[in-house]
Amino acid sequence: MSNRTFTMIKPDAFKKGHSGAILDRIIKEGFAIKALKMLHLSKEKAGEFYAIHRERPFYGELVSFMSSGPIIAAILEKENAVENFRKLIGATNPAAAEDGTIRKLFASSVGENAIHGSDSDANAAIESAFFFSGLEQC
Ligand code: RTP
Ligand code: MG
Repeated sequence: MSNRTFTMIKPDAFKKGHSGAILDRIIKEGFAIKALKMLHLSKEKAGEFYAIHRERPFYGELVSFMSSGPIIAAILEKENAVENFRKLIGATNPAAAEDGTIRKLFASSVGENAIHGSDSDANAAIESAFFFSGLEQC
């Protein structure tokens, strides 16, 4: 169990102006921001990030969506961060997400679901290093 996880506010939530409300919620839930940046992923970089899903039928759509506009990437700290953050964001499909979760509040579909959260400590470390150098992490 590690105390860090990685997140992205996805292009749909960014475009709709939900970034401030989402960051506010994350902070109020007790996560400390250890790194933060806004960027626009190229198709190539989005494909690399989600390479684990390369064989899935939705991969092309996912890569197009994730490169369709700016995102906010961040490293977050809290006890048991990965599990606690997955609880806060809710199920992949917002229709199945619990009331009060970020996806229930801000996501519109399984494809465009507002926010990413790492699914394991190992992936949190890999994903954090994909976006941030050591110098950029507090
Ligand atoms: P994420 O990695 O973005 O935090 O999402 P997740 O763990 O809840 O879900 P995952 O299975 O890792 O899927 C990654 C992203 O792919 C898109 N997706 N689309 N059309 C579909 O059936 C489908 N299934 C997954 C979603 O954007 C999902 O977040
Ligand atoms: Mg995932």
